[in-house]
Amino acid sequence: MNPRHQRTLVTAALPYANGPIHLGHLAGAYLPADIYCRYQRLAGRDLVFVCGSDEHGVPILLKARKEGVDPQQVVDRYHAMIEKAFAAFGMSFDYYGRTTDPLHRETSQEFFRTLADKDCFVLKTESQLYDPKAGIFLADRFIRGTCPGCAYEEAYGDQCEKCGRSLSPADLLRPRSALSDAVPELRETTHWYLPLGRFQDKLSAWVGDKKDWKPNVLGQVKSWLADGLNDRAVTRDLPWGVPVPADVARKAGVDAEGKVLYVWFDAPIGYISATRRWAEAQGDPELWKDYWCSEDSKLVHFIGKDNIVFHCLIFPAMLMAHGGFVLPDNVPANEFLNLEGDKLSTSRGWAVWLHEYLEDMPADYLRYALATTLPEGRDTDFSWKDYQARVNNELADTLGNLANRTLTFAKRYFEGRVPPLENPSEADRALLAGLDGLPERVGELLETYKMREALSEIMGLAREGNRYFNEQKPWVTRKEDRRTCGNTIHAALQLVASLSVLLDPFIPFSCASLRGMLGFEGLRNSALREDEEARIHWADAGRPLLEEGAVLGKPEILFHKVEDSYVEAQLKKLEATRQDSAEGSGENAGGDDGEEDIPEFAPLIGFEDFQKLDLRVGKILEADRVKKSKKLIRCLVDLGREKRQILAGVAEFLDPEDLIDQQVIVVANLAPRKMLGLESQGMILMAEGPDGRLSPLRADAAPGSVVR
Ligand code: 2FM
Ligand code: ZN
Repeated sequence: MNPRHQRTLVTAALPYANGPIHLGHLAGAYLPADIYCRYQRLAGRDLVFVCGSDEHGVPILLKARKEGVDPQQVVDRYHAMIEKAFAAFGMSFDYYGRTTDPLHRETSQEFFRTLADKDCFVLKTESQLYDPKAGIFLADRFIRGTCPGCAYEEAYGDQCEKCGRSLSPADLLRPRSALSDAVPELRETTHWYLPLGRFQDKLSAWVGDKKDWKPNVLGQVKSWLADGLNDRAVTRDLPWGVPVPADVARKAGVDAEGKVLYVWFDAPIGYISATRRWAEAQGDPELWKDYWCSEDSKLVHFIGKDNIVFHCLIFPAMLMAHGGFVLPDNVPANEFLNLEGDKLSTSRGWAVWLHEYLEDMPADYLRYALATTLPEGRDTDFSWKDYQARVNNELADTLGNLANRTLTFAKRYFEGRVPPLENPSEADRALLAGLDGLPERVGELLETYKMREALSEIMGLAREGNRYFNEQKPWVTRKEDRRTCGNTIHAALQLVASLSVLLDPFIPFSCASLRGMLGFEGLRNSALREDEEARIHWADAGRPLLEEGAVLGKPEILFHKVEDSYVEAQLKKLEATRQDSAEGSGENAGGDDGEEDIPEFAPLIGFEDFQKLDLRVGKILEADRVKKSKKLIRCLVDLGREKRQILAGVAEFLDPEDLIDQQVIVVANLAPRKMLGLESQGMILMAEGPDGRLSPLRADAAPGSVVR
């Protein structure tokens, strides 16, 4: 921890209140944030952790219309559901707010007003299509009409799906709103834009100093900066959101009626309003300023990678424009978590929902399994088999077994007390010496957002404990040499006590039970702010924590094995959702604002142009990284008639193992090209997500099959 920082404010991305939380959310932002905060509290740091529901935006409005209810009803439902699931998962927020809170409205409007007063916005007036019945300006996709090319009556405002022609809404014959069927009108509308270009230099200089940011984050931010920052509209014409303040609109000569702040303008201000609510609850309403407006405060945003640009460029620009706020010290964004080898998708139902998981299984099992596979540097995969192996082999057989055998032994043969350590052997001393410096080493990993490595370092100690127990054979020494036996149990108990501190940020429920079994009291609470300096801290885990002769509690089984039948049931459930969505019943509960994600269609080509391509199904037989290249993977692809070497630029997104045995689509008649001295004899077709992530298109036919 930098001595400059006296206090820390941690935020976790505000989840949209239009769907439940799934594993991807947890691995992206919430679990790492919680681990970090619990560790910091144990280390005695002054920290506030805030989050809340993001309750504005078009998808929420559309969901409400579809259900025929008020948007407030939709967000009330999901806010309650998300808050409850987070609590059961052990998220230790100091305050969990919501953006429909009146204090949030006030805070966002005040922020907007300050920017307007400082002349930080530009106003732009443009014509847009308006649905007079729904009272809403329409994005191109929400306009339907007859295609001028093929007379198809259900063409979209941006494309005709029948003939493929790319369109603009003005091209459509008999246009109508997809929301209400009303005939849209062209209306002029004026909006406030944040001219990000004005902040380009300041942002570049600020980001340039961030040597400790994760490479995945810096990579994205620098590429946005290199492309040049454009004006961003920060208001919308919508009947749902924080209203544009009437006084600001009046001054600008704009009618404020029906205008709201863009959801991505008000959402990050939600971090500020949640901190204000927290300060009020402390009985000191001004206290939030110590965390937001004081140079010795450290601000950390935990997010998933799809939120990087907003947290690393747009919100900082807003904070710079406003003045008086600290800027984020770090934004340790994680990559994506896949599920059983496939991209998580709420619309396809390919997800594991937190509230459903918690109906059957303990939070800590999931916290542990996810913590071992957090997508910190690259996308990772969650599979139920891996979950089962982690719980059974690591929690139950390693940690649980060490705790249980040690405690049971002490209960049976040492009257349920901590035996004394008398003339310890070399092995006893070596085991206890293993604790020395460990809290500092693990703490340094956690400070630098390497949660997986921290966990693996701690679990190394648990494994060491079992090895020691086996080698010392207390069941033999018990009969021959009681002192030696007592020493073994003493040392093992001390190890278990330290583990109950070091693992607390990861599996807090189990560690609390374990401390109960050890009769170990006095540790700071990792979920609460505490002031009592006398209580036991994180650093104390580096020394023996239990007094000789102290009375132990009752040993109980800490972790139960996950049965095969549970894993099979989860896999079946996933398969069923996959089939449902293939049959078209999947509904988009997605959390994305989704307005700017889908690129424009390319100009039309003739059929003869298309026919020039020889597309074939290929099976990837081998895949390995190309030396000295961050991007390229060399694949050997079976095209039925022959095998080809093809270079794919996907190493940033996929591991070679992800590609082996995959059936993909190959452009077979592309002229060979040389890259880094290797010839690429074709091209594997990839789909590019909104974040630039590539994934191969898969095909189910035999290698060599022609794709038409
Ligand atoms: O992507 C999302 O889920 C957004 N609701 C995150 C908002 S984070 C913050 F800015 F509030
Ligand atoms: Zn058409």
